Amino acid sequence: NPCFSLSSRVQPDPSGSETCVCLQVEKHLEPFRLSLEKLQDVSARLRKDMLRGLGKHAHHRAAVKMLPTFVRATPDGTEKGDFLALDLGGTNFRVLHVRVLEEEQRVLKMDSQICAIPQEIMLGTGEKLFDHIAACLAEFLDSQKLRGQTLPLGFTFSFPCEQKEIDKSILIRWTKGFNCSGVEGEDVVRLLKEAIHRRGDYDIGSVAMVNDTVGTMMSCGYRDQSCEIGMIIGTGTNACYMEEMKNVKRVEGEDGRMCINTEWGGFGDDGSLKDILTEFDEEVDKTSINPGVHTFEKMISGMYLGEIVRLVLLKLTEEKLLFKGCPSEALLTPGSFETKFISEIEDGLENAKKILTKLALDWDLVDACVARLVCDTVSSRSARLCAAALATIANRIRTNRGLDHLKTTVGVDGTVYRKHPNFSDELQAAVRLLAPKCDVSFLISEDGSGKGAAMVTAVAHICLDINGGSMLTVPNPPYL
Ligand code: BGC
Repeated sequence: NPCFSLSSRVQPDPSGSETCVCLQVEKHLEPFRLSLEKLQDVSARLRKDMLRGLGKHAHHRAAVKMLPTFVRATPDGTEKGDFLALDLGGTNFRVLHVRVLEEEQRVLKMDSQICAIPQEIMLGTGEKLFDHIAACLAEFLDSQKLRGQTLPLGFTFSFPCEQKEIDKSILIRWTKGFNCSGVEGEDVVRLLKEAIHRRGDYDIGSVAMVNDTVGTMMSCGYRDQSCEIGMIIGTGTNACYMEEMKNVKRVEGEDGRMCINTEWGGFGDDGSLKDILTEFDEEVDKTSINPGVHTFEKMISGMYLGEIVRLVLLKLTEEKLLFKGCPSEALLTPGSFETKFISEIEDGLENAKKILTKLALDWDLVDACVARLVCDTVSSRSARLCAAALATIANRIRTNRGLDHLKTTVGVDGTVYRKHPNFSDELQAAVRLLAPKCDVSFLISEDGSGKGAAMVTAVAHICLDINGGSMLTVPNPPYL
């Protein structure tokens, strides 16, 4: 415990008395520590918000959108062919060529290419963004010698969308640093097709829109048939799960289940999490490009965790509790403390020293210990909040089915979950406490946004032929 070494450093406080630094540091970290009772309370609030989101009339005011995906659990198993997949909304933009082999029941990733999306495109016009996507796709088709074929395309578009049909998806709002004009409220498939037509030098086949959580659930489904939750903790955070159709009031029909994209990142946007927001969360929100939006996500995901830590370190420095009271230029610069530093610092004290040096801070051993404590506190809160939200979903599936005990699997992806040294352990431990009647297993997805999207497209392609594309089915595992 770094506090042991901290207790040796004593600091005069304004009242003239001397206080141990660890107590003063703790004063700033305490608001991040959420007790089990608090997490249970957060879970109860989310439960109510999920109901509101599912409701026919309450939906449009709901912070947690609970979007129907039109993916239903009706296994098929006849999918095959070549597909293109686009993946926009994570760390990188990717184009993929994927082959689904019916005989071998496997999905092969043939090739893929990563294209950067420069900041000016992320914040420019929608037309420029889709022109850029169409140009990357053209380049990829050439490199793969696929130009001339009109392949069906799975579009993993990881932003909140109101899905009208498989190939009609209206962007509700941008998240994660994107803010292209003229896209919110528009059909993303139409914008993509228009950009391709503007070029006029190639064409694509039918399009299926997929949220990354859904792709993740689908790509894990083949390995574990009880996978009925998909969760992402990366640049952004979100989860989807299989809900009973009779509870999905906005879609006709009572039978079977439908995958719901919860968009839990928006939890708290109506002020319901005010009591747990710290001054640092408020600052992160205020200085983001979308203030007031995606409150829950801003406490949890990779896009924001580094900035929260930077603000805490800065505050402690201003209070002369760190770095001899001298912040470096880097520490004063928004965005300079990358989220990956948190994982690295928590991984070992030597890493902490290297990173503090890189940030040109004048540190000593106690500073390095405090920096680690700050990282640990901020990432723990993220893991525990995710656990509260995930437990809400697991508990809901269990009660939906009238079960005393539920055994279920969550397909997971995202850099924070994958890369942080103890995030997954902490999350899983908290889920066990918050959903004691659920036995939840975790399966890391193998490219849900790529292969999962192709799989959804493969099924959609068949459904398009059968019934005009009004329904998507989850394919029969095993597939990969
Ligand atoms: C988006 C979700 C997405 C999540 C993870 C959020 O910002 O709103 O649609 O699933 O990020 O990528």
